[in-house]
Amino acid sequence: MKHVPYNEYLVEVIQQLRQGGLFLNTKGEKNNTMTIGWGGINIYWSKPIFVVPVRKSRYTHGLIEKAGEFTVSVPLKEDMEKALEFCGTTSGRDFNKFKECNLTPVPGQKVNAPIIKECSLHYECKVVYKQDMVPDNLDAEIAKEYYSPPDYHTLYFGEIVACYLT
Ligand SMILES: Cc1cc2nc3c(=O)[nH]c(=O)nc-3n(C[C@H](O)[C@H](O)[C@H](O)COP(=O)(O)O)c2cc1C
Repeated sequence: MKHVPYNEYLVEVIQQLRQGGLFLNTKGEKNNTMTIGWGGINIYWSKPIFVVPVRKSRYTHGLIEKAGEFTVSVPLKEDMEKALEFCGTTSGRDFNKFKECNLTPVPGQKVNAPIIKECSLHYECKVVYKQDMVPDNLDAEIAKEYYSPPDYHTLYFGEIVACYLT
């Protein structure tokens, strides 16, 4: 395990968001993970923040609401296409996705949520702000394309408290 600055792999994170997605990991009674294709690393309040958009219908939504923390695991060289597809189309309500995809959960160092051993890059995050999308504030074309039916995102702003390679 090697700690790295939060901003060392920004380009790789954006590339992976556009080509398959990242794993957003949470822990409730059991570990869960879901694929995200949006979000990213920003600066707010002089802190490095990973913003993740999670629709209210996701099992993950309730888990983050309860725990107030999450991790993001990013494949760098690894081919995780099949697992990203599975974790982006099935719910933790119905499946143990770690078991189904042979993913190994490793406890986070500073949060209870796990990271995925099979990925090389990890961010551990504590939620410092959240924002439910306000439908009236949204561009009409985007609303039509992405929110019919109206399953809006909550944006979770997670302060990055650890970033490392495994
Ligand atoms: C490539 C890809 C990107 C996705 N991005 C997001 C996202 O950014 N936000 C979101 O709420 N759902 C996103 N999803 C859908 C969730 O991953 C999917 O609904 C998942 O089954 C939710 O799992 P859960 O119910 O265990 O939380 C994406 C799916 C795929 C395949």
